[in-house]
Amino acid sequence: MTTATFSQRQFARWYPGFMARVDRAGQADLRRTQLARAHGRTLEIGAGDGLSLPNYPGNLDALILLEPNPALRTRLTARAHTLDAPHTIVDGDAHNLEFPDASFDTVTASLVFCSLRDPARALGEVHRVLRPGGRFLFHEHVRGTGLRGAVQDLVTPVQRLLADGCHANRDFESLLKAGDFEIVDIEYTRMPTMMPTIVPLVVGTARRS
Ligand SMILES: C[S@@+](CC[C@H](N)C(=O)[O-])C[C@H]1O[C@@H](n2cnc3c(N)ncnc32)[C@H](O)[C@@H]1O
Repeated sequence: MTTATFSQRQFARWYPGFMARVDRAGQADLRRTQLARAHGRTLEIGAGDGLSLPNYPGNLDALILLEPNPALRTRLTARAHTLDAPHTIVDGDAHNLEFPDASFDTVTASLVFCSLRDPARALGEVHRVLRPGGRFLFHEHVRGTGLRGAVQDLVTPVQRLLADGCHANRDFESLLKAGDFEIVDIEYTRMPTMMPTIVPLVVGTARRS
């Protein structure tokens, strides 16, 4: 078992409480929309402390929950007892998924690509482990436009330090378009939070070609 880094420990102290409040303010509805189409064998990358769990359909064949932060994984394990679907919690890294090619019907990620060192590589891994026609269900905060985008660029170095590598200014839609995915639907919406650098959101579905 790996031990948490300083940055992971700090993040695990404040993030679950912060995001639980945002979920109560409406984020949970977005998660429900995002995850309603999950089916079959499903992988969630960067599952955190498990805020997405109550929003999965109950009839999944299997749900694999990947979370590299040991402090969050402990909370995730406690919360996963409420799941109907057969589930497994694993350590791992979205940049190098330890699963065979085409082994999932669905992959999901919520607010994860902001934190990745090499998001294009991780998206390639999502593509590899999805079967042809499989679905990637996403939910990410992204760079906004105008003044907000400029402020996000400015604060990203600080936000990365305070939030375990989180970039405020990722252009997730361009990343998706550059990969071998067909965007089936995408909703441009807002995170219900007072923290302006993480307000613009995209929620949707991409199909693996
Ligand atoms: C902002 S949190 C989101 C947590 C959860 N998905 C949610 O919606 O509340 C980002 C998550 O990505 C995870 N993460 C960071 N680097 C990762 C990596 N290389 N592979 C997989 N997950 C990673 C973090 O540990 C953390 O749980």
